[in-house]
Amino acid sequence: MKKKQLALFASGTGSNAVNFIHYFAQSELAEIALVLSNKADAPVLEKAAALGVPTVIISNAQAANGVYMVELMQKYGIDFIVLAGYLRFIPSELIAAFKGKMVNIHPSLLPKYGGPGMYGSKVHQAVVANKEKESGITIHYVNEEYDKGTIIYQKKTTVGAGESAATLAEKIHHLEHEHYPKVVEGLLTNI
Ligand code: GRF
Repeated sequence: MKKKQLALFASGTGSNAVNFIHYFAQSELAEIALVLSNKADAPVLEKAAALGVPTVIISNAQAANGVYMVELMQKYGIDFIVLAGYLRFIPSELIAAFKGKMVNIHPSLLPKYGGPGMYGSKVHQAVVANKEKESGITIHYVNEEYDKGTIIYQKKTTVGAGESAATLAEKIHHLEHEHYPKVVEGLLTNI
């Protein structure tokens, strides 16, 4: 059987993207066909290239152009898109073309601490400031509204009394690395 072709979209550090590359390196089911970024200086690009994965940089105008994005995915034969710290709006044509085949991870227990402006350390700062007792990760399908697609998987962690946004971020990253590729692998068996 032909391996499923995965595209990873990332705008930043790319620890999740690198984790995916390692996780699927020996997989019979899928391979990482592409790492895409809208930021030319995103560290994820160098890391992916060093691991032998093709990379593509797109402009913000291209990122917003649904027809362009769908054609780009076709060019690389992409079957499934994984967003991992990708900070651009996804155009509706791409969402439609990858309905049920595009997922995102959010570093909170959605619907809490989601929506526009809630990303990265802002999420953890808000969780700590509100003295939440728990936080976690949410993996969800991507639809037209930020962080509102159908939830596929959530995993909780405790927020300790002395927790800072930085220590919480570390805990959350750990959870993401442990669960995100496994959850996607499960989804790939059904597409
Ligand atoms: C992750 O925390 C993820 O939840 C969010 O963006 C962050 C990306 O981190 N969507 P990294 O670049 O993979 O380290």
